[in-house]
Amino acid sequence: MALELNDALDSLQLSGIRRITAKAKQTPGCVLLTLGEPDGNTADEVKREVGVSLEANDTHYPPNNGKEGLRNTLSAHMARRGLSYSADEVIVTCGATEALFVALTCVMNPGDEVIVPTPAFGLYESIVTLNRGVFVALDTSKTEFQIDDEALRSVASPRTKAIVITSPNNPTGCAYDEESLAAVARFACEHDVFVICDDVYASLVYDDFPYRGFACRYPDLRDRVIVCDSFSKPYAMTGWRLGWVAADASIAAQMAKIHQYMVSSVPSFVQRAAERALEQDVAPARGVYRERRDYVLRRLDAMGLPCVHPAGAFYAFPSIERFGMPSEEFCLRLIDEEGVALVPGSCFSAEGFVRLSYCCSMESIEAGLDRLERFVLGLEGAQG
Ligand SMILES: Cc1ncc(COP(=O)(O)O)c(C=O)c1O
Repeated sequence: MALELNDALDSLQLSGIRRITAKAKQTPGCVLLTLGEPDGNTADEVKREVGVSLEANDTHYPPNNGKEGLRNTLSAHMARRGLSYSADEVIVTCGATEALFVALTCVMNPGDEVIVPTPAFGLYESIVTLNRGVFVALDTSKTEFQIDDEALRSVASPRTKAIVITSPNNPTGCAYDEESLAAVARFACEHDVFVICDDVYASLVYDDFPYRGFACRYPDLRDRVIVCDSFSKPYAMTGWRLGWVAADASIAAQMAKIHQYMVSSVPSFVQRAAERALEQDVAPARGVYRERRDYVLRRLDAMGLPCVHPAGAFYAFPSIERFGMPSEEFCLRLIDEEGVALVPGSCFSAEGFVRLSYCCSMESIEAGLDRLERFVLGLEGAQG
């Protein structure tokens, strides 16, 4: 008889995005518009720095929270975005994935509820479940993916412990406006909850850059705010597994314990390179993504697929509601019938939508949209 494992794992599934991508990869000639990974490579000067560090035998245990040089550089980097965190309030993590684990684990007790505006990146629910908490979805699909004051209050309970906000968002690409952020701020004060800001796309806002996110607008709430960020998306460094988490010293000291017992530290010889990365100008990448976004929106509009204007990240999240088909079925048929892969909205706790990633070549985007258009025309024909 198999021994019993952690039963929190029973309800956890591997990422739906990877599942659909695996199917697409088995389909010859399929165009993949599924992954949230920049198509460019890490800058040469960043890569070279790893060689320099290895040559200098930077191969020993580094300080748990990250080297002072990198933490100072991160503190300055955040200051340029209007965030005030000293180097001692920053922990270098294995991507935003670890940062989010550390942040949520730090604030949660079993049974605590965590509000997540949906559609949302699936990781949050998994972390909440592993911490024996309750994931509470706040549906934003009827409010153009913005947070409505009333709706937020309606999901509150005495067990509400935190809210996770992702702006710009994966999968919608939408950035929270002033009213949404104000609603979260009021809520955080009235209900005494933590606000976990997933800022991994904050450098990738195409309209009105720099974007003023929650932590920047509400410095007075720093006793309940935790900022998670990453090198992955703006610097094309997904494979480096580097990110950071920042919070008031009282919270950072507790998070440091989790980080220390979970991973000890990130590798030593990538930390100088990470400093180089923060010197990179993200503006050219923003320009490229912006052009692609505008092209994608024009094409979706021409197909009659309504899409809330994404302010950043590299995703569009059009509605497929009018076809009256589950998003998973839509995506599986799209792969089989036309050879293009999108991610079902159901992977983000949102039915009636599909996610299209435009962080791939223009050639793939054009081919993928041509195929999507044929598929949509076919469905319309079948509907009469
Ligand atoms: C919203 C969001 N948060 C966090 C992550 C994880 O990023 P990292 O590669 O830094 O672990 C991702 C990755 O896709 C993401 O989309």
